[in-house]
Amino acid sequence: MSDSGKKKNTVTITDNATGKSYEMPVMEGTIGPRVFDIRKLYGDSGMFTYDPGFMSTASCESRITYIDGDAGILLYRGYPIEQLAEKSDFIEVSYLLMHGELPNAAQRKTFEHNITYHSMVHEQMAWLFRGFRRDAHPMAVMCGVVGAMSAFYHDSTDINDPHQRMVASHRLVAKMPTLAAMAYKYSVGQPFMYPRNDLKYAENFLRMTFGVPAEDYKVNKVLADAMDKIFILHADHEQNASTSTVRLASSSGANPFACIAAGIASLWGPAHGGANQAVLEMLMEIGSVDKVSEFLRQVKDKNSNVRLMGFGHRVYKNFDPRAAVLRKSCQEVLEALGVQNEPLLKLAMELERIAREDDYFVKRKLYPNVDFYSGIILRAMGFPMSMFTVLFALARTVGWVAQWNEMIADPAQKIGRPRQLFTGSKQRDFVPMAKRG
Ligand code: CMC
Repeated sequence: MSDSGKKKNTVTITDNATGKSYEMPVMEGTIGPRVFDIRKLYGDSGMFTYDPGFMSTASCESRITYIDGDAGILLYRGYPIEQLAEKSDFIEVSYLLMHGELPNAAQRKTFEHNITYHSMVHEQMAWLFRGFRRDAHPMAVMCGVVGAMSAFYHDSTDINDPHQRMVASHRLVAKMPTLAAMAYKYSVGQPFMYPRNDLKYAENFLRMTFGVPAEDYKVNKVLADAMDKIFILHADHEQNASTSTVRLASSSGANPFACIAAGIASLWGPAHGGANQAVLEMLMEIGSVDKVSEFLRQVKDKNSNVRLMGFGHRVYKNFDPRAAVLRKSCQEVLEALGVQNEPLLKLAMELERIAREDDYFVKRKLYPNVDFYSGIILRAMGFPMSMFTVLFALARTVGWVAQWNEMIADPAQKIGRPRQLFTGSKQRDFVPMAKRG
């Protein structure tokens, strides 16, 4: 796959210190910024490039997800996220992300069967949970149990075998809801619920989370649809921190379960997947509409370290299309649950309105991101805050898996090994203790 971007032009860089020039090929994708290929730069010039946070670096070639941050566009395999959220479902979107095309009826049936029939986890995994404290954060539990899948599913850890890769991919997408629901059940001291093959993906997850063995669980269609939509919106987002973590971890040849566990760890941070929990905590701390101005004053104070959580994005500088879908869905869910007057939603909408008129946010192009409204819906659905990021991880697993498969199949794939600008001590001789100051 690599090098398929057509090389048309070149970029020439001149080192003013030596007067030497270096020519680099320019690669063009189907859409999006052109890139210049610096792979030979170090060999030719002895210089590295410096780009902490990958502000200007395309780390790989990919055909899965495209984002135009200025226009607020998100495409999965070319399809706009709004259309997929409205017309498709998570199973179909998962197939699309993994295989590149929407499935026909037969392909869908087979895929859905594969996912459904992999949803049970090894019975011994239940014992693994018991090693955790009940009050452990479910993301801590997820890092552990997903990593431990490599100890249970040895027959799908050979990354050089395409069949094993596909089995591992199905297992990860299928078992993640089961494990996520188990993490929740463990934290509240209720029995684990086994998956049921007659339920759809989101329905099954809701039942495993909120159902109890003592009675039948009635699926609420509005909630199941909203859950499915949330999964679609979070399914992939090109080379974000957790996806890049999965790619970097697996570039060494590590097994897929360990790599997805690494992705979960990266997602946990408040600047990434942990933001939905942080948004709700922030809204609760603000408490009421009359405190918004004072809160925004703190946000704008450079010495305060307070951020408006759920606002801003490295790539979206216009609006986050996922936030627009969720804002609408949030109102629908609250209406269906009969909680139109949810004070936190009112507060969030007022906070958004004031912030979007404020010069600080306008100048920096800071808009609500996907996390701004998702926490309110999830809370209304009955999830505790600590589960919010787990739901993000559940949904993003298919994106990680699709990106992982793409990377392994790419002949240009190499172990990820960034270099550095070293600013520490030059070589010096060891100083014996007696001579140290
Ligand atoms: N509140 C206040 N100021 C902000 C915020 C914010 N949420 N986000 C950025 N800024 C300011 C920042 O202080 C800086 O100002 P200045 O130029 O005066 O120094 C400027 O905007 C640029 O910010 P940055 O930190 O350089 O931007 P970034 O691209 O490195 O960070 C971000 C992106 C998402 C980490 C950041 O916007 C943020 O921390 N947002 C809050 C956390 C959040 O909601 N994260 C979820 C992201 S969406 C889910 C996902 O895809 O993972």
